[in-house]
Amino acid sequence: MQLTSEEQDILAGKHGRSYRKAMEILAALGTIYGAERMVPISSAQIAGVSYDNLGEAGLQFLSDMADGGGQARVLTTLNPAGMDVENWPALGISPEFAEQQQRVLEAFARMGILTTCTCTPYLSGNLPRYAEHIAWAESSAVCFANSVIGARTNREGGPSALAAALTGRTPDYGYHLDENRRPTLTVEVQAHLKETLSTTSSSPENDQNTSMLFGALGKAIGEKIETGGKQSVPYIMLPGPGALDQLPALEDLKSLCASIATYGGVALFHIPGVTPEAASFSLPAERITITQADLDAAVQSMNDASPEEVDFVSLGCPHLSIKEIARLARLLEGQTVTKEFWITTARPTKHLADRMGYTRLIEASGAKFAVDTCCVVAPIKSRFHALATDSAKACYYAYAKNKFKTLFLPFDQVVRQAMK
Ligand code: F3S
Repeated sequence: MQLTSEEQDILAGKHGRSYRKAMEILAALGTIYGAERMVPISSAQIAGVSYDNLGEAGLQFLSDMADGGGQARVLTTLNPAGMDVENWPALGISPEFAEQQQRVLEAFARMGILTTCTCTPYLSGNLPRYAEHIAWAESSAVCFANSVIGARTNREGGPSALAAALTGRTPDYGYHLDENRRPTLTVEVQAHLKETLSTTSSSPENDQNTSMLFGALGKAIGEKIETGGKQSVPYIMLPGPGALDQLPALEDLKSLCASIATYGGVALFHIPGVTPEAASFSLPAERITITQADLDAAVQSMNDASPEEVDFVSLGCPHLSIKEIARLARLLEGQTVTKEFWITTARPTKHLADRMGYTRLIEASGAKFAVDTCCVVAPIKSRFHALATDSAKACYYAYAKNKFKTLFLPFDQVVRQAMK
């Protein structure tokens, strides 16, 4: 791997031990993956922020990097932490956990990293442009950056994203290279993404509830790809007019990105009319089809809880947009929730919800904002029995991490579950 003289100086420790450590991480990664050089990046996004995942060893690593003088050279934001940094007592977080989580965030802040704590950095000021090289870690955001924005990032780990933030560069391999961004597999979707399934009612308002179906689509595609056993770049052909008469909304795409990354390890897909590069490629010859039965099966597979078993409700995986919070405020106005109900979003989005009066309506119902965090990275193992959510990704981790059963429903029906 060819390093510039500046990169060699960093590796030799001439800029201090934190930068040396960062360059060691990047050079090792570049060597493993056969990168020929480093490429400058315009932004970084770091995952592995919750103390629940980091533990003492992770906190020590971050403190050492901050003590060693490391400062982010590019715009860098954080994934969700293990708690709402302001409202943590109301969410049942222990003071001991809160203290350690604060130390994690302080270490990041000392390195000049913005403690945004969100998995939708593109909604909170970290929005790269088309073709920019970046180093992001959160799998759903990586998929969104590559597939919707057309920026270029591999799926970084926490340490490699931090190393990229401190040095302003990343090894030039994987999705940074043109040849790896070519679609490898055509996915023909022959299922209705605008219509209701057996678990949903057929009221017209379900037109607003398509993001759940895009999550199920990501699961169906992801699992077929995983069965194929190799890293794929799907070229997804959505149904034509009649079944889907407009391009997916931002909320649909963030849901699809989260689930296809979770269930299929996909970091880049192409959708004509969505992905900036899609028009420059022809359809790959290898092809799979997602039928209505596949989509229905994906939905059913995430429904192993009965409505009576649900004792925890959460919306906001990935973090809610302000449009979703506005809808939630309308649904909850004058209502009372009877179950623990977490609304997870980014702090800047919450501030806008405050200003618009949405927060007042939502909190008056008894629902709780869980800002800066989410139902997956918060330390809630064994606290609940069954989760109702509209997120396919949350369903995966609800079981895998917390051993919760799940009820997978459209957005509006999740809200109704909280009121039963
Ligand atoms: Fe975001 Fe947590 Fe889901 S980090 S994508 S809300 S698991």
